[in-house]
Amino acid sequence: MCGIVAYYGHQNGISISLKGLKRLEYRGYDSAGLAFLENNQINIIKNKGKIKDLIGLINGEQANIVISHTRWATHGQPNHINAHPHFSMDHSIAIVHNGIIENHADLKKELTEKYNYKFQSETDSEVIAHLIQFFYQGNFEEAFRKMLSKIEGAFGIVALHKKHNELICARKGSPLVLGLGENEYFIASDPSPFLDHTKNVIYLEEKQMAIISENHYEVKDFNGLNLDVEMEEIPFGIEAIQKQGFKHFMLKEINEQPNTIRDCFTGKLRNIEGIGIKLKTNIQRVVLVACGTSYHAALIGKYIIEKKSNIPVIVEHASEFRYRKPMLFPSDLVMAISQSGETADTLEAIRLAKKIGCNVAGIVNVTGSSIAKECGQGIYLHAGPEIGVASTKAFTSQVVALNLLNLFLNKNPYYQYEIAEELRKLPKIVEEFLKNEKVKEIAKKYFFAKHFLFLGRDINFPVALEGSLKLKEISYIPAEGYPAGEMKHGPIALIDSETPSIFILTKDEVYEKVISNMHEVKSRQGKIICICDHVNEEIEQLADDIIFVPKVIWELSPIINTIPLQLLAYYTADLNNREIDQPRNLAKSVTVE
Ligand code: F6R
Repeated sequence: MCGIVAYYGHQNGISISLKGLKRLEYRGYDSAGLAFLENNQINIIKNKGKIKDLIGLINGEQANIVISHTRWATHGQPNHINAHPHFSMDHSIAIVHNGIIENHADLKKELTEKYNYKFQSETDSEVIAHLIQFFYQGNFEEAFRKMLSKIEGAFGIVALHKKHNELICARKGSPLVLGLGENEYFIASDPSPFLDHTKNVIYLEEKQMAIISENHYEVKDFNGLNLDVEMEEIPFGIEAIQKQGFKHFMLKEINEQPNTIRDCFTGKLRNIEGIGIKLKTNIQRVVLVACGTSYHAALIGKYIIEKKSNIPVIVEHASEFRYRKPMLFPSDLVMAISQSGETADTLEAIRLAKKIGCNVAGIVNVTGSSIAKECGQGIYLHAGPEIGVASTKAFTSQVVALNLLNLFLNKNPYYQYEIAEELRKLPKIVEEFLKNEKVKEIAKKYFFAKHFLFLGRDINFPVALEGSLKLKEISYIPAEGYPAGEMKHGPIALIDSETPSIFILTKDEVYEKVISNMHEVKSRQGKIICICDHVNEEIEQLADDIIFVPKVIWELSPIINTIPLQLLAYYTADLNNREIDQPRNLAKSVTVE
């Protein structure tokens, strides 16, 4: 959940790290800090607040070996003391850490009670620095490895020792990538901090560590054995992580959707058998595990696969799935859906399914991520980096990918052909729709509302869930997503003349039913905003505002119906002056349970 940037090279690593941290702010932004080596001393500068506050504390310092961190608090409040880096007791070592050290309390007890170590912070991370000091007898790498053998949990760690011109890092459960420049090296949670310096990377795998020294790097396992690792080239450039004139990343990413939708299906429609999933058995069932927005995409997948391919689909919140006794069978296809590919609960769910011997695959955006690696097969979204904390383009690409999965499972060539044709037309339709200014006008009318309801039936129910999640996470306005037909069983009590209800409806089997639900709201003086692809007289009379969306086939309708909801959330949050790309309490990549 936190972001790490470290630098070893001939340039000023402090400015490089600060710039890099800004690009990782999506991973956490409640405190930040850095440590650097100068004349065999480690200096730490850190503070509560965002990277801009940390930049304000820098007074022209320069250094060639730097570790830095932006935090999303798990253990201990976001304050100066708990901010990373953390010193060892004797200030010989500094560390930054992303993840959770599960046995930190036991280790701390032992170090304080038996060896009189003094801890400064409330964090689980500080114990890492003390342990390295405890084991250090002149060999930094050895002490680091001994520390690794003691800690349990998830971590990406980078450490610095005042007597060694080295950076040592290790990964287990939290991503770390090495950037290999010209006589300079970078370590980061993802490649964005160093994209303007190098595109050559090595993604550390689980239980790998790296030692970086002058003009040299080595990758080893946790026992210290040297490993042969492959360098990869990042497939996108710096423009993918810049706002490119948009006010926020979220707005940029909403507008990228014509391209990201296309990039998701390109090269896959001609040979749907080759989408990247090999089944060990005939499958009886599909189990989709995901969190948040990805979970909503999974629900859409269920509607599509069950209706069009007659295969039962179960959709699970990964965080729930893990801790009950999930009924899984080797004939299940268990698929993880994740933008980041790092969500801890989704990753663990896949590990569980693998243990049971199920067919396993992923629908993932970030290449080389933990979930992508753990699944070993599946569909990459190719949506490019998603930086706005609220997921937008990844969601619509997930719906495209779930359509591809449906085509793969369906096997009917006529159906496959029909959907492929419709998919090909979709980017242009989305592009046209994005020129529409109507949503902005509607946001101006309702941005002060205290509460919103999002209602839909059938495939538009998960769309309603996604619309309400988007609105609440970036505008902080309470919002409820509900199946329109269920409203009379409770949430109808919320309707009054101040509460806007957003109905999402498509001209399909439940169209008339949803109109009846609109009457229920109208007769209680509720305000109605209607998102629909077909407007009849009744809707014209019922709705206070209508957002007309182009007609597309049912399977793709969640894509075109979600885009106005993304825009509504965006403009409502903007009119309320919210920090759209970094909403309070949230972080992009949830690598903790
Ligand atoms: C909402 C949002 C989150 C994520 C969730 C899962 O806009 O971004 O709800 O969808 O944390 O993340 P991934 O897809 O990375 O596993």
